[in-house]
Amino acid sequence: MTTIRALFVFATLCFSFVQAISVTSTKYWNITNDVEGSVRLNGLAFQQNALVTFENYQYVAFYSTATGYGKHYVNLGRRRISPSVGDWQYFAFTDYLQTTLDEHNTISMGISGDGKIHLSFDHHDVPLNYRVSTSGIAKSIPSEWSQQSFGGAVQHSLPGSTGPWTPLTYPRFERIANGDLLMEFRIGQSGAGDSWIHRYSSTSGLWSNVGKYLQGQDNNAYVNGFTAQDGKLHVSWTVRETPDASTNHDFYYALSEDDGRTWKQTNGQGVAKPITPSTAGIKIYTIPQNSEIINQEAQCADSKGRFHALMRDKSSGTAKFYHYLRTPTGTFSKNPINVAVSTPPYLAYRGKIAASGDNLIAIIPDAPKSTVTIWGATAGGNFQDWKSLGTIGNMAGEPLVDYDRLARNNVLSLFVRQGGPFGTRKVQVWDFELAF
Ligand SMILES: *[C@@H]1O[C@H](CO)[C@@H](O)[C@H](O)[C@H]1NC(C)=O
Repeated sequence: MTTIRALFVFATLCFSFVQAISVTSTKYWNITNDVEGSVRLNGLAFQQNALVTFENYQYVAFYSTATGYGKHYVNLGRRRISPSVGDWQYFAFTDYLQTTLDEHNTISMGISGDGKIHLSFDHHDVPLNYRVSTSGIAKSIPSEWSQQSFGGAVQHSLPGSTGPWTPLTYPRFERIANGDLLMEFRIGQSGAGDSWIHRYSSTSGLWSNVGKYLQGQDNNAYVNGFTAQDGKLHVSWTVRETPDASTNHDFYYALSEDDGRTWKQTNGQGVAKPITPSTAGIKIYTIPQNSEIINQEAQCADSKGRFHALMRDKSSGTAKFYHYLRTPTGTFSKNPINVAVSTPPYLAYRGKIAASGDNLIAIIPDAPKSTVTIWGATAGGNFQDWKSLGTIGNMAGEPLVDYDRLARNNVLSLFVRQGGPFGTRKVQVWDFELAF
């Protein structure tokens, strides 16, 4: 009996040892000088996405100065990442000048299964801005890397689909299993808005309107992300009552198993569309207003059918980052991420969460220390065995993750913005090669 118990303990120790995450190499690249001024336009948590891998290439979307203060171009970079990592190549879209100094007006990028690269940018309650490559340049890699591949001017609707197209904010792209691309955005305003989904067909090259799926009741949902994994579409969010972030409240979740057409509660029971804050069964945790929830923090799904979210609040009296876990059968739990970071000041930079198999990675800005910290936890440790995987210094922004690359190569590739004055402050990509 004792021997069996000893063997069991030994096996358990081996199991947790095997499951530990480690970083085997770290490298970074300066992508550009960040733009001038106190407003951040590169590296905001709701950019889905700025750094994307598709097949053997990685793509990065960023703003850099065009000419003089407050004038920016959308830029697109690419590099080969497999079988070996090549040099970055960049070009600027010189036919569109971005001038609104507003932290909402970021860039989002998506790549559809046909290899077309889709970009949407420069929104805060304005008509849609959208452009797409004229062919599948992420599949048939052109030797020349230039704006030529994107044909005509910026469009203000999605070809084939129907509006509304304004007032639009927070475009997000997510590719689904068959290679089609979903686009999600808010129509309306902070404190009074709805969320819509459109679908690009990789077969026809046209968009269609899937419809309004979240509807405000004189308030609006702020989604943590829009995540497709293994035929399931996961959305979690908080609701805000007014433009004041202190009115954020509660944690909500809904699931779609038909790419956003119809929606379900976490227990699998269908709900009417559009979902409103009073739809039964979608509020998972009650968190009152004035709890320092920062909207649009982070979420991901793993290949084992679990869903994870990262959202902070002060419900315990101290602001903390929390890990929300949904099991494949729909049960939620919420645990503080107990790691050595400063108590996040109200409205301080948002983090990210990412998964690879049974491993979970939290990327948490430590704003008082101007760092971005990286932590790993495992399913074997109930996702509470957080260990430090690295720290990036001189950071002043919100890190973004290349989820495709993590899934494909086990490389955690991050898009980050440095601190410091204009001229020295860089936008960077950091690669952490992981071993599990
Ligand atoms: C990034 O830029 C800084 C400042 O110009 C420079 O010192 C550093 O060597 C650069 N790093 C890389 C990897 O190019």
